[in-house]
Amino acid sequence: MERKWWMSAVGYQIYPRTFYDSNNDGIGDLKGIIQKLDYIHDLGVNLIWIGPFYKSPMDDNGYDVSDFFDVDPVFGTLEDARELLSEAHKRDIKVVLDLVLNHTSDEHEWFMESRSSLNNPKRDYYIWQKGKVDKEGKLVPPNNWGSFFEGSAWNYDETTKEFYMKIFSNKMPDLNWDNPKLREEMYRVACYWLDLGVDGFRVDAIAHLARDLSFEDSTLPLNIHGVAPDWSKFSNRPELFTYINEFHDKVLSQYDCMTVGEVGGGARIESGLGYAAYDARAFNMAFNFDHCWETSQVLDPITNQMKNVTNVKHLKEIFNYWIEGMKNKGWLPQYWLNHDHPRVINQYGDPIHYHRESGSMLGMVLLTLPGTPFIYNGEEIGMTNVDYTDVNDFNDVWVKNNVSKLLEHDSMENVLDRLRRTSRDNARTPMQWSDEPYAGFSKSNPIQKVISNYVQINVKNQLLDEHSILKSYQKLIHLRRFSEYSDVLIFGQFKLVNELNEDEFAFDRWNEHKKVRIIANFRPYSVHFDQPDGKLIYSNYERESSYGHELKPFEALMIELNND
Ligand code: GLC
Ligand code: CA
Repeated sequence: MERKWWMSAVGYQIYPRTFYDSNNDGIGDLKGIIQKLDYIHDLGVNLIWIGPFYKSPMDDNGYDVSDFFDVDPVFGTLEDARELLSEAHKRDIKVVLDLVLNHTSDEHEWFMESRSSLNNPKRDYYIWQKGKVDKEGKLVPPNNWGSFFEGSAWNYDETTKEFYMKIFSNKMPDLNWDNPKLREEMYRVACYWLDLGVDGFRVDAIAHLARDLSFEDSTLPLNIHGVAPDWSKFSNRPELFTYINEFHDKVLSQYDCMTVGEVGGGARIESGLGYAAYDARAFNMAFNFDHCWETSQVLDPITNQMKNVTNVKHLKEIFNYWIEGMKNKGWLPQYWLNHDHPRVINQYGDPIHYHRESGSMLGMVLLTLPGTPFIYNGEEIGMTNVDYTDVNDFNDVWVKNNVSKLLEHDSMENVLDRLRRTSRDNARTPMQWSDEPYAGFSKSNPIQKVISNYVQINVKNQLLDEHSILKSYQKLIHLRRFSEYSDVLIFGQFKLVNELNEDEFAFDRWNEHKKVRIIANFRPYSVHFDQPDGKLIYSNYERESSYGHELKPFEALMIELNND
């Protein structure tokens, strides 16, 4: 394996819409990111992934692109994008963009042409099919496939009386990757940004580029929307690897760039290797979602309320599955959450009773696993899920499209409870910079409501507190990137310790020179655990030595062991 810069990088994902608003119109922007580059640099990060800022009607906050070659005016201008690249590079920070290959906006000029007539030259840029007629003589979609965001995977178009495929929202028609002309167009998009100086891409929704072209009905049971949620019809299908290989050969291999594909749920090692083995002619890494939902809802006998309990053993199995499966064959990205998930401190920590402890414990695990870690903005201060009590405060396209249907089946109280736990809005609230109004994100009312705990949980407070989560992230990133432990933490071997233990996540990292044990208690109470005697490298409690038999709530330890 050849050592590459991105293997030893620490990544940070920025959701541009709510990161920092430089012109006080309530929406984050590129100039806002530029103003926070010093903050990012001081954190120790040297790689940022910025969510999409292309021109977009914002049905899905920019993942619905109407022009790949320009910046949406709410985020700034192309000039701002150039300045952002050069300011980041001055600080030795690499920048990767979100590249959306699976679909465009329905307001993209290709789609407007495509939908205009059956024989338009761009008709085949998208996926069109005739509908079927049901028993009552009604025109229905070509098959029963469901989409991720609303109802059917098909939407009817009046002009040509056919259906176009859209696995996300109606405003996001799927591109037809089977068409070589379309593929060339998308390669031009990638080259344009690489030539402008970006260092690579996080490639959006990459698992879906190929579909079952027989378009036959799924045999899975139908859901409340009357469609089959059968992702296998358009996920991880073998044909897509030929597209990715071509993209690699024609574009990626011509640049010194880094790519991480978003593979999502349901992928196994075999496809993981197809996406990101060293010799796969594909991407450098692939994100999967397997570890994101390892909580069970259980009834707390004391409060009589439902609470999240982490399935620690299963969580470890999942990490281990991917680490072992990719070992010596490919490199992994690691992350706790992105803009599509709830806040990790609500999932696996305890934001109320053990905010500092659980936030720093989760940081330690992320920053010591093998693979390139990606921190999601706000994670480093332990930002939490939303406290919204009005369903209209939720903005996500999924919520907007599904809430009325959910309310037909459940009470408002239950729906709100579910959204506060699972909605994508949880990770998309304004970054909490200070205790000033609107969390110091903007001087005017932000596009997404701030969480009221910004008064306590904010960057300004945590920079002043040596024991804060933020300071822990700084310390841990420093250990990973610049200390005598860098080599072992980045390139060392990995093995779970006590893998059957239900409460702790513990593992060893070692190379010829050093051995480090990482021990993390995932419970809000003390647990028994034998810790070895060694040199204490990191601890999130005041502690004299590494040795002991009990771990405090969410305690995290990093210990150097004798390497024999
Ligand atoms: C990816 C993005 C998500 C978006 C979807 C469609 O999953 O992370 O935010 O909604 O693709 O582009
Ligand atoms: Ca702005």
